[in-house]
Amino acid sequence: MAFSLKKYNTFGLEVEATWGIEINDFVMFDMAFKKIKETGLPFIVLGDGSDVLFKEDYEGIVMVNRLKGMEFSQDSDFHYVKVQAGENFDSVIRTCLDREIYGLENLALIPGTAGAAPVQNIGAYGSSFSDFCRYVEVLDLKNNKIDRIRAQDCAFGYRTSIFKIPENTDRYIITAVELKIPKKWTPNLNYASLEGLEDTSARGIYNHISDVRNSKLPSPKVLGNAGSFFKNPVVEKSVYEKLVSEYDHVPGYGTDDGSTVKLAAGWLIEKAGCKGLRMGNAGTYEKQSLILVNYGGASPDELIGVACFVRNKVADKFGIVLEPEVRIIGKKGECHL
Ligand code: EPU
Repeated sequence: MAFSLKKYNTFGLEVEATWGIEINDFVMFDMAFKKIKETGLPFIVLGDGSDVLFKEDYEGIVMVNRLKGMEFSQDSDFHYVKVQAGENFDSVIRTCLDREIYGLENLALIPGTAGAAPVQNIGAYGSSFSDFCRYVEVLDLKNNKIDRIRAQDCAFGYRTSIFKIPENTDRYIITAVELKIPKKWTPNLNYASLEGLEDTSARGIYNHISDVRNSKLPSPKVLGNAGSFFKNPVVEKSVYEKLVSEYDHVPGYGTDDGSTVKLAAGWLIEKAGCKGLRMGNAGTYEKQSLILVNYGGASPDELIGVACFVRNKVADKFGIVLEPEVRIIGKKGECHL
């Protein structure tokens, strides 16, 4: 019997997989693998489904990772927090704050599970998951064993890691992550919108960022969305300088190598005339154009249509081709827009 994915994707699309299962313990993995063997179908693993866009029904098996649990340990300098993959990342941050473990607060309210966090190397307000990762625990399907991949071997980058490489998506199932959080805490106020913040306690930062996010980003419970749809593009400095000569206040962030600048995709989309765009039941969010939204009852085609339209408009106007940050899943698995 087909498995409805409606409640497993935050766009709220009415799509189906051939078969699916919520994984609450390791025994359920065995059931899923039996099914995969029997049917010869491909599989994908979902957490909260907050970073996927299904292009159509998926001809495969979906495992929804619901493994739960947190373990705490420490040495003289660090807290270590081992988190099972199915824990919601924001609730991990709140649990840490309650235990006076500070550092994760800039990642407040990012949707998604702990197991999904390393895949995209989630980040916001000047912090990234990789800043706190000690290792990622995986079920390695090559030898059917649990293994630990150290943070330095995860090739973390801006919204990327080894877990995005196609051969690894079929090989590793993330079962847990361990965070390593320095006991010596200093607030991270580097991000522009945190300057001048009065309450710079960890909880103050958490509350402020939650307020900013709530005011700018739509809740998927109200309006289906998957956060930023495209990555912020990294361009040569000369491209940025040309924009600065043509427009006032061009947001841009220097990158480590000094010769490139990361532009704000939301700004490019707005300037290309696509802020608050609506095509049928899909569009871009009126307060943040980098967010694609399901205004209610949108079909996958409508969302894909908006994404392609926006990408083409930005390419025509600026010669910059935006790349999706959200993972696009077609009937056979991950694919392009
Ligand atoms: N901007 C516009 N028009 C828009 C949207 C943005 O001019 O419609 C401008 C803003 O005024 C600002 C700049 O673009 O000067 C950047 O906007 P913002 O601070 O909202 O951040 P972003 O670059 O759009 C990134 C992450 C978000 C993260 C925020 C805060 C990516 C792809 N997105 O967004 O992450 O929350 O920074 O750190 O890197 C996500 O990945 O799903 C996500 C929401």
